[in-house]
Parts: sequence; C-alpha cells; structure tokens
Amino acid sequence: MLEFSSSTQSAETADAPCVVVGVFDSALGGAAAEIERAGNGVLSRLRDGGDFGGKLGSTLLLHGVQGVRASRVLLVGLGSRADFDALNYQRACSEAGKLLKSLAIESALVFLPECEVRGRDAAWRVRTCALAIDHANFRYTATVKPNGSRTQLKRIELAGAGDSRTALEQARAIGRGVEFARELGCLPPNICTPAYLAERARQLADEHSNVQLEVLEREQLRELGFGAMLAVGQGSSVPPRLIVLQYRGGNDAKPFALVGKGVTFDTGGMNLKPTGSMEEMKYDMCGAAGVMGAFLTAVMLKLPINLVCVVPTVENMPDGGSYRPSDVLTTYSGLTVEVLNTDAEGRLILCDALAYARKRFEPQAMVDAATLTGACVIALGKHASGLFSADDALAGELLAAGSESLDRAWRLPLWDDYRNQLESAFADIANIGGKSAGAITAACFLSRFAEGTRWAHLDVAGTAWDEGRKGYATGRPVPLLAQWLMDRAAQQ
Ligand code: BES
Ligand code: MN
Ligand code: ZN
Repeated sequence: MLEFSSSTQSAETADAPCVVVGVFDSALGGAAAEIERAGNGVLSRLRDGGDFGGKLGSTLLLHGVQGVRASRVLLVGLGSRADFDALNYQRACSEAGKLLKSLAIESALVFLPECEVRGRDAAWRVRTCALAIDHANFRYTATVKPNGSRTQLKRIELAGAGDSRTALEQARAIGRGVEFARELGCLPPNICTPAYLAERARQLADEHSNVQLEVLEREQLRELGFGAMLAVGQGSSVPPRLIVLQYRGGNDAKPFALVGKGVTFDTGGMNLKPTGSMEEMKYDMCGAAGVMGAFLTAVMLKLPINLVCVVPTVENMPDGGSYRPSDVLTTYSGLTVEVLNTDAEGRLILCDALAYARKRFEPQAMVDAATLTGACVIALGKHASGLFSADDALAGELLAAGSESLDRAWRLPLWDDYRNQLESAFADIANIGGKSAGAITAACFLSRFAEGTRWAHLDVAGTAWDEGRKGYATGRPVPLLAQWLMDRAAQQ
C-alpha cells in the first residue's frame, strides 16, 4: 500500500519528482493557474494547439516545464466545472493514479484535493484521492513476478486541502482493508483455502491486542449443529472452518455483526457449473474477504464500537461424499432445508452463520456480504451491489454509506410476496426459488434465518471483482462497510 501524507508546498516551487494538477476545460484555477503563470502560458499553448483541453479523465505528462522546479508535471483533465461531481473527481484521481503507476518514480505531489466537489468536504476529497490512487496502484505479486525491477511508486503527498490528518488516517485504514480483501480475493483456490483464511484471521488477531479469534473445525461444527454448512463442505478434501473474530472498542453496547460468504472455490457441486461459469469462482470468498477487510479497518481506526465478524468458509466440490440435490438438511436454527440445487450453496453456509451470530451475539445490527447470485449481476451489473433489508432505517444507513464512499448499493425488495417460491414438500424451505427474481429469493431464504435481528444483505456478485483475464478483486464492499461502521461510531 502507498504511504500518504499532506503537504503545503506550492506547485511551482515544490521539490518533487512529479506534481499532479487538475485542469478544467474552462478557466484555470489553483495549482493549474500557478503552472500556467510560472510556465509562461504553457497550459494555454497546449489548449490552443489542441494537445490538452482538460477533457475529463485525460492525462498529459510534461517534462521540464520552464519555471517549475519539479521535473514532471502531470495534467489531469477534470472536464466541465459545472458538471464536476463526486464521481468525476474520483475518475480524475484514478486516471492520475494509473499514469503514476506507469512512471519510474517513488513519490508524487498531488494537488487534486484542492478541487471543490459539490456536497463533499475537504476531508472527503483527501480520502477519496488517496484511495483512488492507491487502488490504481494495486499490484498482485503473490504468485507472479513483478514486471521489471524498476522504481515503483511508494508515497503520495496530498496538497490543497489543509490539515488532513484524520482524513489520511481513515484513508490508510480503509486502503489497508481494501488491500487485504483484494489480496485474498486474487489468490488462487489451491492456496486460499478455508484453513488459509483462518490463518490470515490468526495473523490479524495476533497483530491487534483487542482482537480475539476463534476457529471452529468440523467436529465442533457438528456438535453445534451446523448441518447446512457442513453439507456444502463435505465433498471437498479441504475441511471447512468457521472463523469468529471479535473486537471490543466500545463499552457494553451490543456488537455490530458482519457475516461473509467464504466459498474458496465454487464448482457448483453435483450441479456442476459448465465451462465458462466456473473459472472465476475463486472469487466466491470475496464476501468473507470484504467483511474481514472492513473489520481490519475498524480495528485500525480503533472505532469505539464492539464488532464481530463471522465467516463460514468451505469449498464446494463434487465427489462420492458430496451432498446431493434432494438431500434434506437440518440447519443450525432447526429449520430443515431441501437442497434442490447444490450450486445454491452460499445461502446454505450463510444461513447457519447468520443464525449462530444472532443467537450467540444478539447484535444490534447484522450485515452479510456474499457473491450470492448470478441474477444480481444480471439485475445491477458491475456498478451497484444489491441491498436487501426489511429494516428501512438500516437500509438507509447502508445506502448512505455507499454513496459517501462511492461503493454504491441499490435496494431491491424483500417482500413476503416472494416467499412462496421457496416452498418445499419435504422440508421447511427449499434452497432455490425458481427462474424469476433469483437475487431476491436468495435474500428471502437468508431472511428466514435472521428473523428478530436488524439485518441486511449485500449481494456483491457483480461488484467484488473486475471481469476478464486481468480483472482483480475490487475490495468491495470494504469501503461501504467501513463507512457504515465509521458512521455508527460517530453517532454514539
Ligand atoms: N457463487 C455463485 C453466484 C455467482 C455466479 C457469483 C456468477 C458471481 C458470478 C452462487 O453460488 C451460485 O452458483 N448461484 C446460483 C444460484 C442458482 C443455482 C439458484 C446462480 O446464481 O446461478
Ligand atoms: Mn454456487
Ligand atoms: Zn457460490
């Protein structure tokens, strides 16, 4: 992760390998105006020559600008001032980040936080800029050699937003949580097994004295009655784990609970996924990685709340010992479930974890994150996570946290009208709800196991990773969950 600090240097006289300035497509202001003046109209000449007009997201790298001490000036287009909003600001920061990543420099001085953004304050601009540049600078190196050994970006100084200590501290904690989630998400499933996730939770607990960890293994889970979770894991040669992290940062208030789907690989089981649908299923533990990442952020920020994080983690494999379609499982809650499709496994591990978290911790609010349904990707694409909750206030809090962090969610209904799709002749409930409204019926299934608790579900199937061969885990929904917890802490 990059190091962040703030700076009061000026764009003209700063001693830095690169200064980064934002340029609107109209009049120049702030650092851009300074460069223009020091460089005897350099920006006007670029505009008049048609080389750089400030189009949103465009970049141009200049070397040795006359009158400017820094050896490089990176221009970043901000588009029209009238249209400039939070998303445009983030876009400009991330384009700057991509370009900085490609340069052989160790640090840069970034003036983008000086640009006013409607409805957002200076702290937000600092945080968002730092996180966007850090996100663009992500490198996966666990199983592949880094490209070349040349100098890499290490430090970002942010200028133009005054004293930003708190904002930078938040950016560090959120950035670290995001990085943690992205690294776990990207790891291949032969490395990132349930035991590996438990190991990373162990490290996290070892590094923070106010964090406690319990890892439950198959025997204990059997005794406790995790019938649905164990069934999903029984076809795999790697054993399941239940990870329980607890952080005490508050008084005696009831904790908040985060629950994350940790399927380290989802073949579909006996309802095997076809070629083309299985390749990306190493990401099926991104809900788990997301809640652990947000937990890490909360711990790093020492938020004055109590927080628990419950992660059921298994591998879903076909085998002679696998669970089958038509099996009836007895869940932790006592409800029986008829398995009509072994590929609807996420809800089966979550139903036990939700019921357990609810009974053991009586949380004041509980949120789960899961790469739960392809249907959610069809409904909302890659931009918004699906949000489901019967509690309007909790849904409002999460939607607000999503817009604040630009890790946005969109609410879908969780009405009882959908419940009859889950009826079964052989059990209390079936694990699939038929063709229509797949994301909603999955959420309805979960709701049966969270009854009596303020609970919300985030379906991150579309948002947790970028598709394609070079798509990485995104770290979502860490920013949303971290913001939600920061907001809860601030409200106490
Ligand atoms: N992990 C998948 C959901 C998924 C699919 C996430 C594609 C991201 C991209 C989940 O376990 C699954 O297989 N869901 C099934 C449910 C169906 C059998 C009711 C699905 O969405 O097809
Ligand atoms: Mn599945
Ligand atoms: Zn799955």
